[in-house]
Amino acid sequence: MTLPKHIAIIMDGNGRWAQLKGRPRTFGHVKGTRVAKKIITACSKKGIKNLTLYAFSTENWFRPQAEVSLLMTILRRYLKRETENLIKENIRFSVIGDLSRVPKDVAETIGKSIEATSKCTGLNLVFALSYGSRQEITEAVRSIAARVEAGELSADEIDESVINSSLSTYPTPDPDLIIRTSGEQRLSNFLMWQAAYSEFYFTDILWPNFTESHLDEALHAFSGRQRRFGKVSANDNLEKFPN
Ligand code: IPE
Ligand code: IPE
Ligand code: MG
Repeated sequence: MTLPKHIAIIMDGNGRWAQLKGRPRTFGHVKGTRVAKKIITACSKKGIKNLTLYAFSTENWFRPQAEVSLLMTILRRYLKRETENLIKENIRFSVIGDLSRVPKDVAETIGKSIEATSKCTGLNLVFALSYGSRQEITEAVRSIAARVEAGELSADEIDESVINSSLSTYPTPDPDLIIRTSGEQRLSNFLMWQAAYSEFYFTDILWPNFTESHLDEALHAFSGRQRRFGKVSANDNLEKFPN
């Protein structure tokens, strides 16, 4: 079975899961975090090299203040509790997104976890936090423009690899597989540049109900996909085409 080198997951449906149980949305976020923990370990055990989890978007800041602050509390608690385990599992943790908007204590905890796991050589685990693809691309354009202004780069030298290496995801390879739970079929401002040739896997399962066997189903679907990247597959017989 061909395994993706990079899986990215839009972990969606926490609020609906909680509402179906007659509980507050935040209850869903707590359960969702436990699920994330299991899926991280599962990916690590399977030998997946890169896993990006969409944890909080730039648009999620517009949610009610109580929900936002509980999400920040959950994140801080998760990192404080889990960093030791990440090290044990040889998982390197990093973050993409605008951390200037994150509360200072949470940003500090994030910094400590990044530092503590920096020598780990197994799974590269990336949290997309306060992340938005449009903001990321805007930042990249700004930094490239500054290099041009400073005379370090000419406009002609701007190519795809310059843009690629100016994005916050660099040097992680593009996601091969993007999974979104909860039945929504959209990117919601996630990895728009990087998803150019990603395979998409949508499932109706709400994130708090997502298990390792659902992950296996996604991996199985991925291994059956034929990725062509705009070319024709090697065994297509060109002789058959009429002149
Ligand atoms: C995903 O679940 C988690 C975050 C966006 C933080 P939601 O909170 O979006 O849950 P639904 O989509 O409202 O059910
Ligand atoms: C996307 O989910 C962001 C995360 C899962 C963190 P949303 O629930 O915010 O996306 P929309 O609003 O349904 O597009
Ligand atoms: Mg949602």
